[in-house]
Amino acid sequence: MPLQIDTNTELIQSPLNYTGGKYKLLPQILPLFPKDIDIFVDIFCGGGNVGINAAADKVIFNDKNKYLIGILENFFQPEEKLFRHIDEIIQEYGLSESAKYGFAYYNTTGTKGLAKYNRNKYLRLREDFNNADVKDEKYYLMLYVLIVYAFNNQIRFNRKEQFNLPPGKRDFNNTIKMKLKRFINRLAWGNYEFSALDFREFSLSKLTENSLVYVDPPYLISCAQYNEKGGWNAGDELDLLNFLDDLTNKNIRFALSNVIRCKGKENSILIDWLKQHDSKYRIEKLNFDYNHSSYKINNKNLITEEVLIMNY
Ligand SMILES: C[S@@+](CC[C@H](N)C(=O)[O-])C[C@H]1O[C@@H](n2cnc3c(N)ncnc32)[C@H](O)[C@@H]1O
Repeated sequence: MPLQIDTNTELIQSPLNYTGGKYKLLPQILPLFPKDIDIFVDIFCGGGNVGINAAADKVIFNDKNKYLIGILENFFQPEEKLFRHIDEIIQEYGLSESAKYGFAYYNTTGTKGLAKYNRNKYLRLREDFNNADVKDEKYYLMLYVLIVYAFNNQIRFNRKEQFNLPPGKRDFNNTIKMKLKRFINRLAWGNYEFSALDFREFSLSKLTENSLVYVDPPYLISCAQYNEKGGWNAGDELDLLNFLDDLTNKNIRFALSNVIRCKGKENSILIDWLKQHDSKYRIEKLNFDYNHSSYKINNKNLITEEVLIMNY
């Protein structure tokens, strides 16, 4: 029996505040998924917002970011043990615990934040993490703590693979604790697997016509002020579209998140591919106001479109 999830009340949010996270769109995306999924592959899983809420016999989280997958894999343990290990790291480095002591204790306010108090402690943790040789459970939990205390909770490594973000305003507060608790409790009662592969290397051999591959790549055209593309280029986009055709040829279902047009830009590679397939794929437009409607690719009136494209 696939895991049944009531999308009105039980949506789980990733404890990683991930760029491009799909949490807000879940009430529109989840009802578009088939109801009979054996294996759900969240192939560009990021923070895992979609995979963790998918109703399927088994969910595979895949992302080429091995750090991210390392963290998610190490969340797979009893709640009490995980929280104890995180607390041990926070205490070892003397990082703030605003949930316990409030902001005044650290001579700051919620608005000013905790970066100043945490700075040297955080930098010491960052240095120890960057110099660690063994990639064990503690290594990934140190990285998780770094992300929780980092600027905007982002994950960023330089070319030498050194985590390089400065400290941010927040710490391991009650909101993030609650997200982590709910996320790992869901992990504990479902059937989950992890892999850290480029989508081109992912084997389709175990998938069947009852599987669904959910595809949420970096977008070729970005709607945000800042660059969200993360190195994604036209070559990657073309390889991805070939990968989707391959899924269709193998009778495996896919659902692709993307934007077709946005703020005067358009993804012509995606548009051409959709035209080539001449209405073979179903396109649903998604809105942040919780409505969605079908439309045709040649509708000229559309300006910004977040869409879900499906081959079923
Ligand atoms: C838009 S994010 C996914 C967000 C996710 N759906 C969520 O809700 O949290 C895109 C992800 O694709 C991953 N990625 C980029 N290139 C990839 C590739 N070639 N193969 C697999 N994953 C890739 C990035 O590491 C990033 O985590």
